[in-house]
Amino acid sequence: MCGIIARIGHDDATETLLSGLENLEYRGYDSAGIAVQNGSGVKVRKCSGEVDDLKSSLEHQLHGNIGIGHTRWSTHGPPTDENAHPHTDTAGDVAVVHNGVIDNYDELRAELCERGHEFDSDTDTEVIPHLIDEYRATADDTEHAVRQAVETLEGSYAIAAIVDGEERVYAARNGSPLVLGLDDEEWFLASDVPAFLDYTDEVIYLEDGDLVVLEPDSYRITDADGTPVDRPVDTVDWDPEDAGKGEYDHYMLKEIHTQPTALSNTIEGRVEDGAVAFDALPSGTFTDVETVQFVACGTSYHAAMYGAQLLRSAGVRTEVVRASEYETMAGPVDDDTLVVAVTQSGETADTLQAVRTATERGARSLAVTNVVGSTAAREADDAIYIRAGPEVGVAATKTFSSQAVTLALLTQRIAADVPTATPLADSETMLESLADLPEHVETVIETTDAEALAREFHNSDSYFFIGNGLGHSVALEGALKFKEITYEHAEGFAAGELKHGPLALVTPETPVFAVATGDDGKTKTNAIEAQARGAPIVAVCPDDHPLADAADTHLSIPETHPVWAGLLANVQLQLVSYHAADLLDRPIDKPRNLAKSVTVE
Ligand code: M6R
Repeated sequence: MCGIIARIGHDDATETLLSGLENLEYRGYDSAGIAVQNGSGVKVRKCSGEVDDLKSSLEHQLHGNIGIGHTRWSTHGPPTDENAHPHTDTAGDVAVVHNGVIDNYDELRAELCERGHEFDSDTDTEVIPHLIDEYRATADDTEHAVRQAVETLEGSYAIAAIVDGEERVYAARNGSPLVLGLDDEEWFLASDVPAFLDYTDEVIYLEDGDLVVLEPDSYRITDADGTPVDRPVDTVDWDPEDAGKGEYDHYMLKEIHTQPTALSNTIEGRVEDGAVAFDALPSGTFTDVETVQFVACGTSYHAAMYGAQLLRSAGVRTEVVRASEYETMAGPVDDDTLVVAVTQSGETADTLQAVRTATERGARSLAVTNVVGSTAAREADDAIYIRAGPEVGVAATKTFSSQAVTLALLTQRIAADVPTATPLADSETMLESLADLPEHVETVIETTDAEALAREFHNSDSYFFIGNGLGHSVALEGALKFKEITYEHAEGFAAGELKHGPLALVTPETPVFAVATGDDGKTKTNAIEAQARGAPIVAVCPDDHPLADAADTHLSIPETHPVWAGLLANVQLQLVSYHAADLLDRPIDKPRNLAKSVTVE
């Protein structure tokens, strides 16, 4: 939540900061602001609203070769101009942008006020420039003042600061992501790589405790003890094109349409001679595993359900726990427990906390993530990547598909090692048919009737999604997507649960989307029960599934192995949600109150 960027070079930074902020808006879009340092003081422009609003408010362009920027998802204080970042000290000499939460800001603010500091906002962040300013009076130099300031903070932060009269950017991280981008002529710091991917793919993922000083021709990193450190330089293999909207009206539509490519990348090199191989997980990695706990939130939780069901059917003791409930809901853990954190961003606070708790309890950990260098990837004992490429739309689409496929493969890998497991009887057929999945997704996208269906139903009272087995996780995911971007009431249920309560809500104005994948006994029966109460039934299944004939409307998916059928059904549901949201004129890529990367608990 919140995106920060900093840039230092020899030419003007303003355009770079603004375009970087646009690429970070998926992290929050309540307000935006930049500050530049141009030899005549630190200049700040900020406002509530999106980066576009900031651009329009820049009547007189700011100029400066050094600058910082911020796009906000509000935690402390409403989304007003005053609460927008950057924040400054009383004299306006130090400007700071921050992603994270400062837990001890109340007491720090009270102490600073007593010493004469004046505050303008409700934010926790504002204490930081005041602290830096105060320490500058006694410290050897600003770098030491920044270090003292961050040592005073409790909580999580990635910060970047500029100071009047100094050709430098200071930055520090603890618990919030921060990446350094290295170009020939300029340096960047940002919450995520897409902020500067147009300029460079050479990056350094900073560690907690790192403090960075950027100058126009050099950078210096010191660790928490103040010792200079060399962090490895990585090359990011994302194409700048991947991070843009291209010919599409929305990122979400682009990301739905690029699923065939994303899935091909996910699969590439991981199935050989009828067996699954992950470079990072050689044979024997899981021999000692007795229990697997999947932890995740939102869409990733639904993908985790998918993987958990497959692993369970291979005879491995498996739990899937909502990360935010891990503390109280997870079963016992010991050193034979593997906790698998499923997280697109690798930065979701609830998921990270669940892994930390499991680790303290003695589990080993594996991160399944999309983002190389993310906190989950760095903190877990092992990491594998879903290779979906950057996802910018707040609604997760291609990453769900890539997560589910990665997890399906992972379950095969685990089952091959665990002595008591019984790999799926038809795993060879399943793995063979995986090769066709990208093409089948392409077929769904090319032939879908989702837009017409959305037109027919987009004014309904409520929307229900049902499925059982693997279809259950798809039903939950379909409902989450629908409510998230249409703002209409939508709920997903295990098909058999309808009659235990939700059926009371069913009317002719509540379409029921029934997902059938081929291994589901009850879904048709349960759908017909809803139909008998007047609900229009939309079957999402292969043409020859009995549900297709029984339903009022049918969204067709190609014939495939039942393990992959749910993912094709999910693409149909993604498209229904997208078109319904479009007809309702919703801000599809930036739904209200949400952010893509949820870095607060
Ligand atoms: O980055 P993560 O996968 O950990 O994010 C988890 C959820 O916040 C995320 O999947 C959220 O539910 C999506 N925006 C839903 O489309």
